[in-house]
Amino acid sequence: MTFETIAGIENQHQLATYKKMPIAAERGEGVWIYTSDGDKYLDLYGGHAVAGTGHCHPHVVNALRQQAGELLFYSNLVYSGARARAAEKLVSIAPPSLTKTFFCNSGTEANENAMRMARMSTGREKIITFNGGFHGRTADAISATFLGKYREIGKPNVPGHLEAEFGNIESVRELADDTVAAIMLEPIQSMGGVRMAQPEFYRSLRELCDEHGIVLIYDEVQTGVGRVGQWFFAGSEAGGGVIPDIVTLAKALGSGVPVGACLVREAIASHIKENDLGTTFGGGMLAMAAVTATLEVIEQDRMLENVRRVEAYLRQRLREVERVVAVHGRGFLLGIEFVENAAPVHKALLERKIITGTSSNPKVLRLLPPLCLQEEHVDMFVSAVDFHG
Ligand SMILES: Cc1ncc(COP(=O)(O)O)c(C=O)c1O
Repeated sequence: MTFETIAGIENQHQLATYKKMPIAAERGEGVWIYTSDGDKYLDLYGGHAVAGTGHCHPHVVNALRQQAGELLFYSNLVYSGARARAAEKLVSIAPPSLTKTFFCNSGTEANENAMRMARMSTGREKIITFNGGFHGRTADAISATFLGKYREIGKPNVPGHLEAEFGNIESVRELADDTVAAIMLEPIQSMGGVRMAQPEFYRSLRELCDEHGIVLIYDEVQTGVGRVGQWFFAGSEAGGGVIPDIVTLAKALGSGVPVGACLVREAIASHIKENDLGTTFGGGMLAMAAVTATLEVIEQDRMLENVRRVEAYLRQRLREVERVVAVHGRGFLLGIEFVENAAPVHKALLERKIITGTSSNPKVLRLLPPLCLQEEHVDMFVSAVDFHG
């Protein structure tokens, strides 16, 4: 089918909820997307940060093929080797105190369950989140999202959600007391314009939580699974070494197969009993095979080292570009701030067959590329950005 035919059918039969790029993705390989019209695009957006291992990594594809031929799905009412392997692998790379997993299907669902666990384990209801943070579109997660119009879209909101100012510990102190169940944050706010706080902020959050018995939740739906050049932002130097009580994951965790997860401390997990949480598809075999293969690929292909090396190269190359004011973020979650608005840059790059993302900050262009991106791809991007100038 040609692009025109595909777009015509989608526009006729799909809700118009997304502003789409004028391409139809047909095939992917590593950092490349091939379109229905035979074009090739450099993908610096990774399909919304999902293609961490790159598109169609052979190890992931083979694992999925094999699992699909054995058993596609059975629920949590039975044990499964595929689920056991995924849980063991995920816990093995997690900060040592996060020893328990709960598998679900998406980022918003992981956050809903994290908040529920916090309420169940504390017997409290209030949740503090931050301006500029995004946590998903289901009722509780959208009520925790103090970014743009999302809470408005999600009305009526779930009660008990409080807003603090990201990076300002005093604003948290004013709200944090013994009636609060959880503080939840994206440790690097992605949609909010790739905003990070100082290490001291994360450390002070940990102290406040310890002082008041509050559960600290990191929404690592974007920052997790290697994107910041480490497995997680939790425990990183940039984050002051802080380990939260729950980490939520999705996006890159299954290399494109829908899967979400909560990583949970034993002290919280011990409050959760039979039937407290559940989801039909969570922990299904195909998704679990994707998780194991994804984590194996990141390890085998030394992608964490790759992210750190190529990030440094990208930052160095961008110093040559006059119109770039600053580069925010860590690893391959980067916000490139321009003197002017980023939307025309985004459009011009697309015309040069490079896919990037925007953010809620009009001057910030977002890069969320596959973790296998190389220096040669950075060169292509930098000359395209420079050419536009
Ligand atoms: C930080 C963060 N949390 C949660 C979500 C929601 O994830 P999902 O769309 O898989 O529900 C997203 C999605 O963009 C996100 O970026």
